[in-house]
Amino acid sequence: MAKKLFIQTYGCQMNVYDSDRMADVLAPLGYRRTDRPDDADMVILNTCHIREKAAEKVYSELGRLRQLKDRPPAQGRPLILAVAGCVAQAEGEEMLRRAPYVDMVFGPQTYHRLPRMVAEIEAGGAGVVDNEFPAEVKFDHLPDGDGGTAAAAFLTVQEGCDKFCTFCVVPYTRGGEYSRPATGVLAEARRMASHGVREITLLGQNVNNYHGEAPDGGEWSLGRLIKELAEVNGIERLRYTTSYPADMDEDLIGAHRDVPALMPFLHLPVQSGSDRILKAMNRRHTADDYRHLVARIRAARPDIGLSSDFIVGFPGETEDDFALTMALIEEVSFVQAYSFKYSPRPGTPAADATDQVPDTLKSERLAEMQALLNSQQREFNEACVGRVMPVLLERMGTKAGQLGGRSPYMQAVQVAADADQLNDILALRIIAAHANSLTAVIEAPGEAAIADPQSDEIGRLQA
Ligand code: SAH
Ligand code: F3S
Repeated sequence: MAKKLFIQTYGCQMNVYDSDRMADVLAPLGYRRTDRPDDADMVILNTCHIREKAAEKVYSELGRLRQLKDRPPAQGRPLILAVAGCVAQAEGEEMLRRAPYVDMVFGPQTYHRLPRMVAEIEAGGAGVVDNEFPAEVKFDHLPDGDGGTAAAAFLTVQEGCDKFCTFCVVPYTRGGEYSRPATGVLAEARRMASHGVREITLLGQNVNNYHGEAPDGGEWSLGRLIKELAEVNGIERLRYTTSYPADMDEDLIGAHRDVPALMPFLHLPVQSGSDRILKAMNRRHTADDYRHLVARIRAARPDIGLSSDFIVGFPGETEDDFALTMALIEEVSFVQAYSFKYSPRPGTPAADATDQVPDTLKSERLAEMQALLNSQQREFNEACVGRVMPVLLERMGTKAGQLGGRSPYMQAVQVAADADQLNDILALRIIAAHANSLTAVIEAPGEAAIADPQSDEIGRLQA
């Protein structure tokens, strides 16, 4: 009889990808995914450590799940409780000391060893911890998944980070930078396409620094990889995230001009508009570098929609520094963005800085910044009303009789459509704009071609 697996995913898209791969690894052991923890044979919390009291939240969730362990086991089997992801990586053995009822603790680089860990637990072992950065590469040990049924999928091509921004835990929890060889990436993309995937988002902590081994033994940049992936039969749309500004090279900017399947949207975190703060953050760009980069990208793809991450209240941030960030936002204009209060992460250099910004000030600055970012997003959404765009209808809509998808510019779009149009790419006419989404009607029957960037009105509006 199939065993049931419940995975709760926190944090970034890479965790979403990892959770799916964990399910693939556990499938040969008889585990099938369920969306209910209370009838699961195994519960995995795939955790995120990037901000706030991440570890404390995991411990309190574990406290709740503990009750499931104490209940009569479903189908005569005891519940296996596991913690995966970046909190597991950071906490390791400490997690078992604080929550001794947890069975398995493993980081993002070891989940290919799950069968071994499960066997150890089933043989009566207690508390398995595996948070190494193993010499073997997990991608070489992951089984081919069934691909699921979605038309839009994530594909991790690069992992880890060597940049050591002074606020960030990623280099400690995900390890050093690694690019997957292109052959494996292409094979995974072809497999996805054969399962009906039409849009792939390439993932990496510094995805634009991808430099994977090429099939001929050389090296491919991300721009080159994208050109090759665009040739894969069935793959019609490509995206990638997240990019480090200093790693944006000519190949990749050129891909935005030359590869129609590459969607005109780019998440390019700048973090701050103050050179003093950028330096203290150990970012390798100035505000002007970012401005020039944006100009080059817009020259290649005039209609590109830009997105960014911002941190307010980094140690030592003054009113003047904050004003410089606001000025940069005004100047660049973002179609969407994420902004966060600086959150000291134990073990990172900035956490020890003595000039921490008071929380009330962080909150004020965040509110001011979000008001500006929200107004830019709204303005962009409103500028889209009346336009026709190709949208992949990748999910059921928020209301009955609707389907949902993403515009080329990553906006959420809702449209009245038949359920059998799920997974179609249709030309939609945008009829209404909201703060975070668009409403559309189907413009023409049949499938839409990707819009011609050169004839795009948004390019002019954005430029
Ligand atoms: N390149 C990475 C960025 C990692 S974290 C990626 O895969 O997206 C995502 C964002 O979280 C960062 O861009 C930064 O804006 C924010 N962030 C990271 N550490 C933070 C901290 N200590 N406090 C507040 N925000 C943080
Ligand atoms: Fe973090 Fe900076 Fe790397 S934000 S993921 S250390 S580029």
